[in-house]
Amino acid sequence: MAQEIDALLQESRTFPPSEEFRKQANANDPEIWAKAKADREQYWADWAAELDWQTKWDRVLEWNPPDAKWFAGGKLNASYNCLDRHLATRGDKVALIWEGEPGEIRRVTYRELHAEVSKFANVLKSRGVASGDRVAIYMPLIVEAVVAMLACARIGAVHSVVFGGFSSDALKDRIQDAEAKLVITASSGYRRGTIVPLKKTTDAAVAECPTIEHVIVVRRRDEDEVAMQTDRDVWYHEAMANADANCEAVPLDSEHMLYMLYTSGSTGKPKGIVHTTGGYLTECYATCKWVFDLKENDIYWCTADIGWVTGHSYVVYGPLACGATVMIYEGAPDFPKKDRFWDIIERHKVTIFYTAPTAIRAFMKWGEALPRAHDMSSLRLLGTVGEPINPEAWIWYNQNIGGERCPIVDTWWQTETGGIMITPLPGLVATKPGSATKPFPGIDAEILDERGNRVEVGGGYLAITTPWPSMLRGIYGDPERFQEQYWSKWPGIYFTGDGAKRDEDGYFWLLGRVDDVINVAGHRIGTMEVESALVDHRSVAEAAVVGIQHEIKGTAIAAFVIVKESEREEAMRDPAKFEQELKAHVSEKIGAIARPEKILMTADLPKTRSGKIMRRLLRDIAEGRALGDVTTLADPSVVATLKEKYEEEN
Ligand code: WTA
Repeated sequence: MAQEIDALLQESRTFPPSEEFRKQANANDPEIWAKAKADREQYWADWAAELDWQTKWDRVLEWNPPDAKWFAGGKLNASYNCLDRHLATRGDKVALIWEGEPGEIRRVTYRELHAEVSKFANVLKSRGVASGDRVAIYMPLIVEAVVAMLACARIGAVHSVVFGGFSSDALKDRIQDAEAKLVITASSGYRRGTIVPLKKTTDAAVAECPTIEHVIVVRRRDEDEVAMQTDRDVWYHEAMANADANCEAVPLDSEHMLYMLYTSGSTGKPKGIVHTTGGYLTECYATCKWVFDLKENDIYWCTADIGWVTGHSYVVYGPLACGATVMIYEGAPDFPKKDRFWDIIERHKVTIFYTAPTAIRAFMKWGEALPRAHDMSSLRLLGTVGEPINPEAWIWYNQNIGGERCPIVDTWWQTETGGIMITPLPGLVATKPGSATKPFPGIDAEILDERGNRVEVGGGYLAITTPWPSMLRGIYGDPERFQEQYWSKWPGIYFTGDGAKRDEDGYFWLLGRVDDVINVAGHRIGTMEVESALVDHRSVAEAAVVGIQHEIKGTAIAAFVIVKESEREEAMRDPAKFEQELKAHVSEKIGAIARPEKILMTADLPKTRSGKIMRRLLRDIAEGRALGDVTTLADPSVVATLKEKYEEEN
C-alpha cells in the first residue's frame, strides 16, 4: 500500500480527451457540473424522465437522514425499462452476446430476451413467488442468469445474487439471512476448464434452509448428472416448455426493493445491501450514457460476474436500460489460452471494455505480445473499477489495449452507492493515471477529516455529503447497523470507508480502505469473516488476518494463527500440510477468493492493553517492514518473536 500511495503521489502525466472523441461524446458541455449543482433535484429528475414510468413521481427527493426516497409516488418496472420499452425500436437488436467458456456462442435479441423473461416470470409465479419475496440466484454467467434477475424484477420479487464461487456455507448464510423462498441455480458451470458443481453445492446449502420451497435448475451441460429432489427441484427447460410468454411487468413504487446483494463489512457477517427501483435505475442509466458514452452501435463488455454489484449495475440494469448490445463471457481470461479476452474483443468487435485493475496487472504479466496478436481496433473506450489502478498498469492499458486512442474511465463506486460516483467523463475530463478524477455531475463527494471538516487539498476520508439516487436504502433486516456503519461518523453524511486525497486540480485519488475490509483482487473481504472461518477449524484458538501487497491481486490475505495447545504437536508434525489444511478450510467456509496467501503459526498475537489486536504491526511484519510504534502493546516481546519467526520462514 505505502509503495502504491507513493507512486500515486508522484504521478503528474495528464491525458486530455482528443478533439475527435469530444465532438462525438454524449457529454460534451463543460458546464454540466455547474448546471447539475444549480438544481440537483431537477437535474436528476431530468435523467429519471428518460426512463419509462407508469405513474410520474410526486416528489423528487425526501430526505430524512439516513433514509432517502427518490421519485416517491412514481411507479415503474425495471424489467419493463430494460426490455419492453425497446421492443418497438430495437426489438431485433441483439441485447446479449453470450460466450461460454468452452466456446459456445448465443445471441439473444431484445424481443427474444423479453419473451424468455416473461415466460420465466410466469414460472416463478407458478412456484409461488410473489412481489416482495426473496429469490436467491446462484449461477454461472449464462443468459439464464440475466433472465432470472429480470424475471424477478418483472413481478416485484427481490433477487439476491450469490457469486457462483462462494461455498455452500456462504450460500446458506445468505439464503437464511434473506429468508429466500426459492433458489435458481445451474447443474454446473465452467471455470478455467473445470466443472463447478453448482447444484451439488446448492443442495448442501438448502439442506439447512427451511424457507426454500423450490430449486430451479438450468441444465448447463447435457451430460450433467444431478440429483433432483421430487416436489422441490425443477428443471428450468421443463418448466419453461409450457410457460406463457405473456407476463405484464408490474408497475412498482419507485422505492420498491429491486434487489439485495451481500457484501463484506468491517465486522461480523456479510450485510445485505438493499437497492430500490427508480433512483437506482436512473443513476445506472445516466452513468452508462455519460461515463461509457454508450451509443446505439456499441458492443459493450463489462467483464464482471453478476455475483458482484458491477454485474448488476453495468452488465444488466444500466446497459439494458440504455438498449445496448452487451457481451457476456462465462469463463476465465486465461482459458484455453491467456489471450481469450483479446480474442473475444476481436471476434465480437467489442467497442467498450470495462474490467478490473487486478486483471490488467495479470495481462501485463502475461505480456504485450498477446494483445498485439489481435485486431482490437474496434475498441473506443476503456474502463476500470474495483480498486485503485497503479499508474504503470494504467499506462500499459492505454498503450497495449487502447492503442493510445481510447479514453480510460477509472470509476470509483461501491456496492452501497449502486452506481458510479467518481469518474472522468471521457469527452470532458483530462485523465491522470491512477486518479478517478471528479464526482459525476449531481454527486457531492468531499474529503473530510476526522471531525468532518472539509479538506480542500490533501488527504482524509472520502464522504458523500448529499443523498444520491442509487444509494443503498439500508442493510437488510438491520437498521441499526446501517446507521452505525455509514451515518454515525458525521451526522447526515455518508462515510465510504475509503481514504482519499484531493490534489490542487480538485482530482480525487483513492487510497484504499480505512476499515478492516481487505480488497483482494477487487473483491471485498472482511478480516472478521476470514478470522471466524479460521477459528472454526478445530485446531485454531485465535486468528488475525491482514492485507499484504500482492503483485497481481493488489492485496492478498496473510493470517496469523494461534494453534490450540492440545493440537500443537499434531499440527507441527507437518506444518506445510497443516497450512494447506487451514487454507482449504477457509475456501470451504467462504470460497476460494478468501483463501489466505500466507499463514503464520504463532504462540501469541500483539495486543493493546485493552486486548485489541494491533493489525498495523501484523501488516508491518507480514510485509517485512521496520516495526512501527510498539509502546501501546501489552507485551512488546510478542512482536519481536513474531517478526523473527516470520523472517525465518519467508
Ligand atoms: C474500491 C465495487 C479505487 C474502494 C464497484 C471501494 C476503488 C470498494 C475503485 C467497493 C476505484 C472501487 N479506485 N478504489 N476506481 N472502485 N474501489 O463494493 O475501496 O465491491 O470502497 O464495489 O472498492 O467495492 P465493491
